[in-house]
Amino acid sequence: MTVILVLSLLVLALAATSSAGPTPTFPPVGSIPRDFSAAGLEAIWDLVGPVQAPPFTTTVAPTSTTVALPSSPPPLYPSFYAPAPKDILPGLKFPPGFKFGVATAAYQVEGATKNEGKGPTLWDWNSRQPGAVFDNTTGMSNSFSFSGVVDFYTGDIVDLQYYLYKEVANPSWCLPHALIDVGRMSSELLRSASMPIPFPSISWARILPFGTKDSPINQAGLKHYSNLIDYHIAHGVEPVVTLFHWDTPLAMSAYYGGFTSPEVVEDFINYAKIVFAAYKGRVKTWYTFNEPRVFCMGTGLYPFNMSLASGVNASTAPYQCSYNLIKAHTGAVKAFREMRIPGEIALKSDDFIGIPWRSNSTDDALAVERHAAFRIGVFADPLYKTGDWPKIMTDTLPPEYLPRFTEQEKKDNLASADFFAIDAYREQFVAAPLDVGGVSGCVHNTAHPLWPECSSAVFFDSNAGWAAGISPDPLSEVWLQATPNTIRSFLKRLHERWPTNKLYISEFGFVEPFEELRTEMFRITEDVARTDYFMTYLGQVLLSIHEDRVPIAGAFAWSMVDNAEWNSGTSAKFGIQHVNYTTLERTYKRSALSLAEFFGAHLQH
Ligand SMILES: *[C@@H]1O[C@H](CO)[C@@H](O)[C@H](O)[C@H]1NC(C)=O
Ligand SMILES: *[C@@H]1O[C@H](CO)[C@@H](O)[C@H](O)[C@H]1NC(C)=O
Ligand SMILES: *[C@@H]1O[C@H](CO)[C@@H](O)[C@H](O)[C@H]1NC(C)=O
Ligand SMILES: *[C@@H]1O[C@H](CO)[C@@H](O)[C@H](O)[C@H]1NC(C)=O
Ligand SMILES: *[C@@H]1O[C@H](CO)[C@@H](O)[C@H](O)[C@H]1NC(C)=O
Repeated sequence: MTVILVLSLLVLALAATSSAGPTPTFPPVGSIPRDFSAAGLEAIWDLVGPVQAPPFTTTVAPTSTTVALPSSPPPLYPSFYAPAPKDILPGLKFPPGFKFGVATAAYQVEGATKNEGKGPTLWDWNSRQPGAVFDNTTGMSNSFSFSGVVDFYTGDIVDLQYYLYKEVANPSWCLPHALIDVGRMSSELLRSASMPIPFPSISWARILPFGTKDSPINQAGLKHYSNLIDYHIAHGVEPVVTLFHWDTPLAMSAYYGGFTSPEVVEDFINYAKIVFAAYKGRVKTWYTFNEPRVFCMGTGLYPFNMSLASGVNASTAPYQCSYNLIKAHTGAVKAFREMRIPGEIALKSDDFIGIPWRSNSTDDALAVERHAAFRIGVFADPLYKTGDWPKIMTDTLPPEYLPRFTEQEKKDNLASADFFAIDAYREQFVAAPLDVGGVSGCVHNTAHPLWPECSSAVFFDSNAGWAAGISPDPLSEVWLQATPNTIRSFLKRLHERWPTNKLYISEFGFVEPFEELRTEMFRITEDVARTDYFMTYLGQVLLSIHEDRVPIAGAFAWSMVDNAEWNSGTSAKFGIQHVNYTTLERTYKRSALSLAEFFGAHLQH
């Protein structure tokens, strides 16, 4: 998921210390000519700089068709304190057809970033800009020739899922029985519970190296995902596909400013059509965009603020992006319907509604409305409710910031989603600005640091200061807490605000505190905080379905494997499988086995 907010904090730290240090570099938008030759592609790669090559460059064939699961872990707690996963609410089952999945994203797991014709993406560039990624990992700390110690922090190699999705078999890199992603997740663990897996999002720049509609098509990229889809299906795993998970082809940023320019709309629709035509019938559930709210907020922040379209500034960028992105989404869905692609399509939102921090404060209640509007309503009102932006947004943001929809666009918006999906990690408090003017003072002051949202999340209560929930690793505490006691109420209120026939929890997960500091496997695999997060959360999902009648039809755990967690690099661990970044070996953590046990007991076939 989602740590773009961290950027702004890092920027502050950097500004204080590094005026003499390295600065990010990006050419003026529009200054690079469109040259679709090999040399032209290399010129875009030059914006990124040197890239670490993976240790091997062929898809590794499986050495074995079965994956032995480790024996079940012993009980975590005495049963009087917490039941075993299979004994949680044993009378309640998921409805038939419920999808249990594990999620990933292309940039975060694939590696092989410059292989098989892929073009560079905005994140290939971003991860090298000073201070942009927590671990300072530019990919250049070691020699570029592979020496056994590779910098995995960028997306250059990370999990090398691009070549390892069948099985890791190179013993110099991986223990012979180290098994991988589809194999490991499909065999006992998932097949026993007929779980689908969303495979990584498709990387736009693998299909169209320059991204644009006049870009040459890279057949190797198309073939790769075709093979990946077939391999999933052959293993009884339903692939759920995301078209865009933040990895804008870098050429589009250089040519016209990426999503801050209306030019992106036709280019995205073209890309979507190519993908729909290539994989139609094999994929049933599609997402156009991952967390567009977080993505668009990022466009105005360092260092993405270096590639804005002309006429767009850091303050207007998030809203220009939101408008262009919705048009790209609705255009792609229109094509989906015209092409008669079987299946369902929507985008996945993120964030939470919020609980008023001071229960007696009308200003905090107002702040909750603003939070809900700016964080979820921004895409959910257009797609599910009115066709238009939330009124709170249009009242606050003039059209120079937030372009207005035409009547036709509003109709298109309302026809563009077959289900509601949300990356629902947590539910926290929300407070009004604490200065004298409160919400209204902020709304009328564009210089206010909280403008235009004029509300902020608070992670502890207003009475005694008790936490809203359990803390994750410090790297993710800027946004995440485990909130097992409030998540059910959140799902209910979400459904009341944006009613739907089908709701997917498209991501949920937790960063085990301090896992990145651990070196012994028995400490790493005992991921207690994550296990508790998943078990309590899923119990609430069962109650939400049965008691609150919320039509939750699937839940996708983030993440299948440890990965490159955006600006936290590989240090923030979300995986239910550990990845050894020396050998690439995967190891199940307790949370993976607990999920398998839970779903084994609660899914109906
Ligand atoms: C990143 O670099 C900064 C500045 O050189 C340094 O203060 C910080 O400790 C580094 N962070 C890590 C995780 O190495
Ligand atoms: C991007 O944002 C950073 C941090 O706020 C700022 O220092 C820099 O000048 C901005 N760059 C551009 C091109 O606006
Ligand atoms: C709200 O409750 C707090 C704590 O009980 C109290 O200090 C405060 O005065 C109350 N505010 C209003 C507006 O009633
Ligand atoms: C950004 O653009 C908006 C709309 O044109 C304008 O009102 C605002 O002053 C600009 N902000 C900056 C910092 O230039
Ligand atoms: C990762 O692999 C290396 C090389 O085999 C080994 O030394 C290290 O202990 C492994 N890490 C863990 C956590 O097992």
